[in-house]
Amino acid sequence: MSWWLAPWYDRLLSSAEAGRLGRWRTELLAEARGSVLEIGAGTGANLIHYPATLEQLTLCEPDEGMAAQLRAKLPADPPYPIVVSSAPGERLPVEDASQDVVVSTLVLCTVADVDASLAELRRVLKPGGRFLFLEHVAAEGQPLRHAIQRAATPLWKRFAGGCCLDRPTGSRIRAAGFAVTAMEDREMPSRLDLTGTFLWGHADGPS
Ligand SMILES: C[S@@+](CC[C@H](N)C(=O)[O-])C[C@H]1O[C@@H](n2cnc3c(N)ncnc32)[C@H](O)[C@@H]1O
Repeated sequence: MSWWLAPWYDRLLSSAEAGRLGRWRTELLAEARGSVLEIGAGTGANLIHYPATLEQLTLCEPDEGMAAQLRAKLPADPPYPIVVSSAPGERLPVEDASQDVVVSTLVLCTVADVDASLAELRRVLKPGGRFLFLEHVAAEGQPLRHAIQRAATPLWKRFAGGCCLDRPTGSRIRAAGFAVTAMEDREMPSRLDLTGTFLWGHADGPS
């Protein structure tokens, strides 16, 4: 993770959080129920969007700078138990088939191994469990923008904590064996923004 990102993350995203990004999070996480595990929880941007009716929340965040901000946002008297772990997405600290819902928002652009992380998310889901995702992805339907994303990624990822602009995350989710129940392309307003193509959706894990 880039050293400068953790202290600036919330400020950089504040206008998006007040607009579309925040609305997309609320809409996505309204589906969360029971025991929930989130990978790459960052500074805890999703915390305010979870329903108060969860049974348990496990927040995994490997970067200590991000995790410190996350811990500072935890409610003093949470309505359900919250566990914070430093585990990466590729090695989740819970048993097979133990979670009702797993969550990834703006993380699969950054994990070292997308396929290993998706396999872990699937491993920990109970039969009938769901995967909720909101990711910025390659602009595969826009050739010029996609080419710029590919060209910019090697430099971008050095300054943006390993974030890749050009990952085809939707096809990796399907390839991991998830049964996609919703997968929508969504756009942030600026057409020039290389992180403006989002994938919002949910998928069923093992049956
Ligand atoms: C762009 S931030 C997203 C934070 C948060 N999920 C959100 O929606 O705002 C990406 C996060 O992924 C984390 N990360 C990096 N490598 C990871 C890995 N291998 N497994 C899980 N998370 C990782 C980073 O530390 C960072 O907190």
